[in-house]
Amino acid sequence: MKKLFSDVKIKSLELKNRIVMAPMCMVASDDEGYAKDWHEIHYASRAIGGTGLIILEATAVESRGRIKNGDLGIWDDSHIEGLSKIVKSSKSLGAKVSIQLGHAGRKCEVKSERIIAPSPIAFDNSYSTPKEMTKDDIKTVIDSFKEGAERAEKAGFDAIEIHGAHGYLINEFLSPLTNKRKDEYGGNPQNRARFLKEIIRTIKTVWPEDKPIILRISGEEYVNDGNHPEDLVHIINLVKNEGIDIIDVSSGAVVPANIDVYPGYQVPFAETIKKGTGLPVIAGGLITEPEMAEEILKNNRADFIFLGRELLRNPYWPLEAANKLDQDIEWPHSYRRAKI
Ligand SMILES: Cc1cc2nc3c(=O)[nH]c(=O)nc-3n(C[C@H](O)[C@H](O)[C@H](O)COP(=O)(O)O)c2cc1C
Repeated sequence: MKKLFSDVKIKSLELKNRIVMAPMCMVASDDEGYAKDWHEIHYASRAIGGTGLIILEATAVESRGRIKNGDLGIWDDSHIEGLSKIVKSSKSLGAKVSIQLGHAGRKCEVKSERIIAPSPIAFDNSYSTPKEMTKDDIKTVIDSFKEGAERAEKAGFDAIEIHGAHGYLINEFLSPLTNKRKDEYGGNPQNRARFLKEIIRTIKTVWPEDKPIILRISGEEYVNDGNHPEDLVHIINLVKNEGIDIIDVSSGAVVPANIDVYPGYQVPFAETIKKGTGLPVIAGGLITEPEMAEEILKNNRADFIFLGRELLRNPYWPLEAANKLDQDIEWPHSYRRAKI
């Protein structure tokens, strides 16, 4: 039976528990996307706190793919050094480290950038209208994901997470709400999934076979004509054989919508996707209690639990959770004296 504190291995990725730090933009970089000491300490704190897998925040594969000024970047070889420091320190403290490769598409808020999207539709009045991507633009972005993956490998990451959620570029292709293209990248689900499929395929040419690739998706778009969990099952089944190993199930942010949020509100989407695709899933959303995380795993509703804001509040959540669940895990050496 799965439980929070059980070892797990996916390809070469061996984790000491099933606690995943959700990717969270820290907006702590500079105008050029370089990692700072701050990032290293921020992630290392969660590694000391016992997190099994840390997924680094959305890291832009192109400068026009940043969400905000201050996001991390991986569009140039000079980004590798700073990222590798984060990886090295967090790994030396017992965590495994993934990077989230992203492109903001029409949700890029960096004023100096000309923003792009599958179709020229603005997110809302506060955003500018994106340029509709040409075939050349599509090829350029796909190549930048490949280069990002190559750099991620050089920086020593254990896994890659492709950001296909929250209404950013890949999600903009997947959703019928934002993709109105008439060519082979728009229309039916197969066409809308083509951009993602080509990104996975190109990443696979440079990313080691034994390291997993995670895909984050918005499992529900909260609008009638948008994608729902069953649509995501269909889309994932169209692309998974290109080489997706784990699905990280989030939701929303594709178009403005009212969302009723409560602890575990996204877990049913994860369950549907797990059943429909046969792939391991990471579930989460407003989870704060170890008992709740344990329920989700033990009832086989998901394979991993992500924590976002709770880990911002408390980097030592995993150590405390082990106490609460009466699990005898290894604490950092002298921290053992604080064990109850
Ligand atoms: C400060 C902050 C930054 C975030 N940045 C990202 C991001 O870079 N990539 C992403 O996929 N999700 C991002 N998210 C969403 C989180 O990964 C997570 O899905 C969300 O916070 C819900 O989980 P929680 O209730 O445990 O916080 C962010 C959330 C927060 C609070």
